[in-house]
Amino acid sequence: MKKLRNTDVNIDKLDTVVTLYGWVLRKRDLGGVIFIDLKDISGVIQLVISPENKNYEKACTIKTDYVLKTSGKVVKRSNPNKNLKTGDIEIEVEDLEILNVAENPIIDENSLEETKLKYRYVDLRRSELQNNFIVRHKITKSVREYLDSLGFIDIETPMLTKSTPEGARDYIVPSRVNKGCFYALPQSPQIFKQLLMVAGFEKYYQIAKCFRDEDLRADRQPEFTQIDLEMSFVSENDVMDITENLLKKVFKDVKDIDIQLPLTKMKYDDAIDIYGTDKPDLRFEMKINDISNIFESTEFELFKNILDDNGIINCIVAKDSADKFSRKDIDKLGEFVKTYQAKSIFWLKYNNEFNGGITNKLSESELSKLKNELNISDNDMILIIAGNKKVVKTSLGALRCNIANKLGLIKKGEYKLLWITDFPVFEWSDEENRYQACHHPFTAPKDESIKYLLTDKDKCYAKAYDIVINGYEAGGGSIRIHDSKLQELMFESLGFTKEKALEKFGFLIEAFKHGTPPHGGLALGLDRLTMLMLETDNIKDVIAFPKTTSASCLMTDAPNTVDDKALEELHIKNVI
Ligand code: AMO
Repeated sequence: MKKLRNTDVNIDKLDTVVTLYGWVLRKRDLGGVIFIDLKDISGVIQLVISPENKNYEKACTIKTDYVLKTSGKVVKRSNPNKNLKTGDIEIEVEDLEILNVAENPIIDENSLEETKLKYRYVDLRRSELQNNFIVRHKITKSVREYLDSLGFIDIETPMLTKSTPEGARDYIVPSRVNKGCFYALPQSPQIFKQLLMVAGFEKYYQIAKCFRDEDLRADRQPEFTQIDLEMSFVSENDVMDITENLLKKVFKDVKDIDIQLPLTKMKYDDAIDIYGTDKPDLRFEMKINDISNIFESTEFELFKNILDDNGIINCIVAKDSADKFSRKDIDKLGEFVKTYQAKSIFWLKYNNEFNGGITNKLSESELSKLKNELNISDNDMILIIAGNKKVVKTSLGALRCNIANKLGLIKKGEYKLLWITDFPVFEWSDEENRYQACHHPFTAPKDESIKYLLTDKDKCYAKAYDIVINGYEAGGGSIRIHDSKLQELMFESLGFTKEKALEKFGFLIEAFKHGTPPHGGLALGLDRLTMLMLETDNIKDVIAFPKTTSASCLMTDAPNTVDDKALEELHIKNVI
């Protein structure tokens, strides 16, 4: 028998008898008549039980969250509810069965997040949350259809494995059988998918669980999911082309939105220069302008000292909104940029002439250059940050988004996708005091960069690309090194000794000696993509059983201690 869902019942079923199952969302007693909102995965329908009904007494005992089976006649509602899909009908209950009772409700919309996470299975019953998982399901369905149609093969890779090269901390798992040895949970299927290319599968994909022990943020979880793919005999453009067509289909299938292809491609250096970040939000303009040249011979001491110190002076312009920023608001912006290490913000407003902020510190000629070069008009505000390049760009990049939010420049339902290409091969790590791979050590350098790998790291660019959606890094990938000599050179340039490289990735280095095709790929963050499509900024909304920022699960209480015997078997001693 095909089970009816609540929202399958509509006016066409008038006067028929239907059987429904669900949870009690709400019960109301209006002058003796009992109304129950019965909820199932599809939505809500109203049940009516009047005092003369044989089920009346039973209905009186019913509370929120009880599980019911009911049969009854579909009748027209005298007061239709336009907000409900089933709002023009209701069910006159004929049979009523309580399948399960429930304790008093423990959470409601005002509950603390911790309580909601502890009783996640109850919170998940909310239609808004359930809808998130329906959307997530539609995304993976669409992805599978598309990749299958292109001949990609879905292959699983191990969870108990060895450290992978993504650069975060590993979650490690002790081995009972191999004393003192540990597995690492994969940070991504990176190495295995490359080995699948060596094995000749040509087009691989997997919707893969990944694990990274890193600081958590609103868009990061310790375990998350990637739409991971890899292909042989491809160029950067081939991978980008397939990915953007995949995203086009997903946006069409799931949101009925047409994404215009090809997507914009922006070089990493340009993104940093113009937007202060490698994940620019292009839903609004407000580019960063380098105005250092205007102040070449300035008498404004502060700017002069910064330029003498090889610093830069950059600004953004908030168009037609000077009147929206009080002194207090600007002070707050000053505090905001301090979190990005900027010392302060300098500002000027324009109304017929410049006023406020640093206006009287600047010469007529500087003011006139600012006006002309930045195309300033009435009610514009210039916000300037000066200092070292990294701090200036990063803080103005963040300020740009902050102001766009404040001014309401971001429209709901709008999507701006773009590629960031030509990433540097190396990035300097202050923590480690050495150069690290910007992506991972298997990323191929641009052909023209190979000669600089050992000598001039800042000149090395990679065949790497990220896909950015509305200011989020939704995915990233690269063409890989498939030549063992070049791979050795890369390890050397990263400061790995031969022994260290062999110890960490020996099996991959070995595999590269046995017929490796040129290959490349990419991984999209499924959770992030779902967040973006649902326009939520909290990754927990799209993961059924998420972890808190301290990486624990409040529902299961994981991670937890284990008893001494279990530790003994694993040859582990607890020193806490
Ligand atoms: P990368 O490390 O850039 O690349 O990861 C790919 C995408 O995965 C998502 N992501 C995360 N999502 C939620 N929580 C996290 N902690 C988290 N970390 C990453 C992001 C990111 O863009 N093996 C390479 C891919 C490749 O080169 O093919 C990799 O893992 O959306």
